[in-house]
Amino acid sequence: MTDYNNPDERIISDEPLDDSENAIEKSLRPHYLAEYIGQSKIKTELQIYIAAAKQRQEAMDHALLFGPPGLGKTTLALVIANELGVNLRTTSGPAIEKAGDLLSVLSELQAGDVLFIDEIHRLPRAVEETLYSAMEDFYVDIIVGQGPTAHPVHFPLPPFTLIGATTRAGLLSAPLRDRFGILAALNYYDAHDLQEIVLRSADVLQTRITPEAALEVALRARGTPRVANRLLKRIRDFAEVSHQEEIDQDLAATALTQLRVDRSGLDQVDRRLLTMMINLYNGGPVGLKTIAVNIGEDVETVETMYEPFLLQNGFLKRTSRGRMVTPKAYQHLGIPFPENNK
Ligand SMILES: Nc1ncnc2c1ncn2[C@@H]1O[C@H](COP(=O)(O)OP(=O)(O)OP(=O)(O)O)[C@@H](O)[C@H]1O
Ligand SMILES: [Mg+2]
Repeated sequence: MTDYNNPDERIISDEPLDDSENAIEKSLRPHYLAEYIGQSKIKTELQIYIAAAKQRQEAMDHALLFGPPGLGKTTLALVIANELGVNLRTTSGPAIEKAGDLLSVLSELQAGDVLFIDEIHRLPRAVEETLYSAMEDFYVDIIVGQGPTAHPVHFPLPPFTLIGATTRAGLLSAPLRDRFGILAALNYYDAHDLQEIVLRSADVLQTRITPEAALEVALRARGTPRVANRLLKRIRDFAEVSHQEEIDQDLAATALTQLRVDRSGLDQVDRRLLTMMINLYNGGPVGLKTIAVNIGEDVETVETMYEPFLLQNGFLKRTSRGRMVTPKAYQHLGIPFPENNK
């Protein structure tokens, strides 16, 4: 039996996906812009850049994709490579430890290919500096050998497109950020887009779901396609167990309540975070570190997974002295807002 109080079972989690989840996430990835739902401003711009690059038979400009986890950055990199009709090579910031590692990745590229570097804010400084000339003028100068035999070697590279993804654009150095011609900030999806994503995913998974049920999932998915897909998968299990052939709104709502995701898309950790701030700190202001310690998460998780959604939806606000719980959050939790507060 699934234990939804177990943090490992949380829907909103940044834990690495297990193999079956990974396989499902892969199978649900759109391959072309036409299947990539929402983010219309980014799509319109990309369409132009992609068409221009193809027409000139050149590599597309380097693109930086940023935004909270699960909004479709990796998916978009894949879509761009497919639309350009080029190969995609994927690596990540922490995987490239030395300039030599970078060179071996770069040397496998063909003209026009896309190199996708996930978590690009975690590239070691020396590697990042090597990347500058690769991005700007398509060459790498690297020191080969050690001690007295050490000498610089010049490696020309084919023109390529770097796509960097990060959940933390603020951590990117200015010189690196400035070398991207295309900056795309992915935003949370509205309920309508998420409903469409759920319907599409159900189709791929060959699961029947009513539009009303898909909307129910969409409303509780924290604006995040990954969460919407995970919820759908859990509800599908639920439907199977209860021998229901089609997921309707009732079943979706029951399953979602069981999963402890409420109608505003908050899960038990969100609610614990807010309740803790109210009970222990009178609603704030509370520093990020204090919040993290009190709910047993690390600062980065709070900052990238929980806070952006709570801020954007008006449950938390940021002040110079720390984070504060808003009257909306008190109301949502059914706790009276202290009148003499602030
Ligand atoms: N615009 C979209 N349309 C349809 N499905 C989407 C869209 N964006 C994301 N998804 C789905 O959501 C899932 C998560 O997307 P993805 O892995 O690209 O997120 P991410 O931004 O790279 O997350 P992370 O920061 O954790 O790496 C994928 O399985 C994909 O199918
Ligand atoms: Mg990703």
